Amino acid sequence: MTEQKPIASGEIIKAVSEEFAANAHIDSSKYSEMYAASVSDPEGFWGEHGRSLDWIKPYTKVKDTSFAHDDVHVRWFEDGTLNVAANCIDRHLATRGDQTAIIFEPDDPAEPAQHITYRELHRQVCKLSNVLEDLGVRKGDRVILYMPMIPEAAYAMLACARIGAIHSIVFAGFSPDALSARINGADARLLITADYAPRGGRQTPLKSNADAALLHTRDDVKMLVVKRTGGQTTWVDGRDFDYHELMLEADEVQHPVEVEAEHPLFILYTSGSTGQPKGVVHSSGGYLLYAAMTQKYVFDVHEGDVYWCTADVGWVTGHSYIVYGPLANGGTTVMFEGVPTYPDASRFWQVCDKHKVTQFYTAPTAIRALMAKGPEFVETCDLSSLRVLGTVGEPINPEAWNWYNDLVGKGRCPIVDTWWQTETGGHLLTPLPGAIATKPGSATLPFFGVQPVVLDPHSGAEITETECEGVLCLKDSWPGQMRTVYGDHERFVKTYFSDYKGYYFSGDGCRRDADGYYWITGRVDDVINVSGHRMGTAEVESALVAHAKVAEAAVVGYPHDIKGQGIYCYVTLMNGEEPSEELRKELRTWVRTEIGPIAAPDLIQWAPGLPKTRSGKIMRRILRKIAEDDFGALGDTSTLADPSVVEDLIENRMNKK
Ligand code: WT7
Repeated sequence: MTEQKPIASGEIIKAVSEEFAANAHIDSSKYSEMYAASVSDPEGFWGEHGRSLDWIKPYTKVKDTSFAHDDVHVRWFEDGTLNVAANCIDRHLATRGDQTAIIFEPDDPAEPAQHITYRELHRQVCKLSNVLEDLGVRKGDRVILYMPMIPEAAYAMLACARIGAIHSIVFAGFSPDALSARINGADARLLITADYAPRGGRQTPLKSNADAALLHTRDDVKMLVVKRTGGQTTWVDGRDFDYHELMLEADEVQHPVEVEAEHPLFILYTSGSTGQPKGVVHSSGGYLLYAAMTQKYVFDVHEGDVYWCTADVGWVTGHSYIVYGPLANGGTTVMFEGVPTYPDASRFWQVCDKHKVTQFYTAPTAIRALMAKGPEFVETCDLSSLRVLGTVGEPINPEAWNWYNDLVGKGRCPIVDTWWQTETGGHLLTPLPGAIATKPGSATLPFFGVQPVVLDPHSGAEITETECEGVLCLKDSWPGQMRTVYGDHERFVKTYFSDYKGYYFSGDGCRRDADGYYWITGRVDDVINVSGHRMGTAEVESALVAHAKVAEAAVVGYPHDIKGQGIYCYVTLMNGEEPSEELRKELRTWVRTEIGPIAAPDLIQWAPGLPKTRSGKIMRRILRKIAEDDFGALGDTSTLADPSVVEDLIENRMNKK
């Protein structure tokens, strides 16, 4: 598949525009040539591209990676040293000190946007680095960020990187319990937060959530608080520090700390199919190179572009494609504090119009939500600056693709559907807009150096026919790959390398078509994708059973018009407890407070019993089918201990069409 074959007839395809290709970094023949080189000689390819970063001590070793089960390790540019913040800021100062690095667009459109130059970014990050050092943070220490989408979030990430501290961002929509679990998991001594996070005209009380979280952590955890709104908070002297006060006195001179390429840049917790969220560890050198290269080529970024990724820095997309990738490339990146529908459903397009955005990157769930509001919200804005549109997080359905293509891109803009994961650090399957024709719903072909394979889920054998379906694995490493699970390398090996020996297992199923294009068919594990966010069903289940009235719970996904997948819960109550609408509400609120609003159940069905095998294993396949209202296809139920349970569940299903 090193070559782009002609597209099979009869499918909807969008060809690469010749005009676009003529000005693009990568056209079709360059893609084929570079891809072939990247997989036939990874050392040579990455060795050369790695030099696009600024190294303190240049590397001599490029790649030392093994997916072999008894010795999984991933090391890139191992003997090189660098500083990530210096790569994202200092090296641009001579040529682009006065260029805007970050455009901050506040939640309230009446509040003026901020244009932060590279010089100003440098000043802020140097000062904050000194503040962090004064608070006792040193190289290798973990710092938790629980922040609104404000420039200070980017300053904090970069200041950590500058002093070699490891940041771990907790999405501001997570609950105090989820926050304390991550503070403890990372064994952090500093939490950076804000008083409130304004979003969609409402305010999340981050400081009071953080106060609640710190009741369940070590006593010596300190808090650095950005006063975003100036709203009321409680204050603990000696523990809580005012960001702006400390910044006023901070020194502007700060020398970036030299770190090894493999030094962890950040930890990001993500849900899996079992147990508590894992701390995904990313490196400094390999990660930064991969984020930068994918950002440049996938969005075809050129001098003077204004690039906007609508994600939140609490997710990996925000790390790689709001902060690290764009800034490493010396670009201009938009940071948006708000939501797509506030003050109304034209906000995204208003912001594109206002800042003359050239690349726009969002999630299918946002597109579907906006599509439902009608075309007039788009039509009133001037979107002529747009050149490339992107999507991420879940497969895009044809209706949403068409709407995006026709109404937003006016048919002119290539759409890049980027498949990747928290674990992968950057895009793995994606079109390059000047090189690869697109088919709505397909993430198309691999990025440079990426070797996807489709395995037979039963035998684990690699399927060599072009046209096939199976589980999606990767045959070899790429520089942006996660290095380990924080504090638990064994879990890393077990989760990603033990189901299919010798491969990285993505957890996704996929189909490969006659043109070699990949179509992601969704997770094959117990992870669901709610509004482009990954949710472990086991986590929601353990939150539910932690409620005093719940005896047992099973959680599955079901098709949801806007969210992609909704959260469907089967709940068995304790003996003597009566089901009621009130209890449903109570459980919904309970899960919101245990995990966060993103985990709130959409549907709760009272289940007198759950379908189990004779050995007591819950048969989730059956529960999924019932939740999908597709119980005609229950499959083999002969191993059920008590088949009557299923009849009751079908009878009382919540998602009748
Ligand atoms: C899972 C990863 C990568 C940042 C956002 C989510 C699904 C992601 C696509 C896409 C189909 C996609 C996969 C993947 N996914 N992008 N373009 N098409 N599915 O990161 O929370 O780590 O979730 O999201 O199922 O495994 P994440």
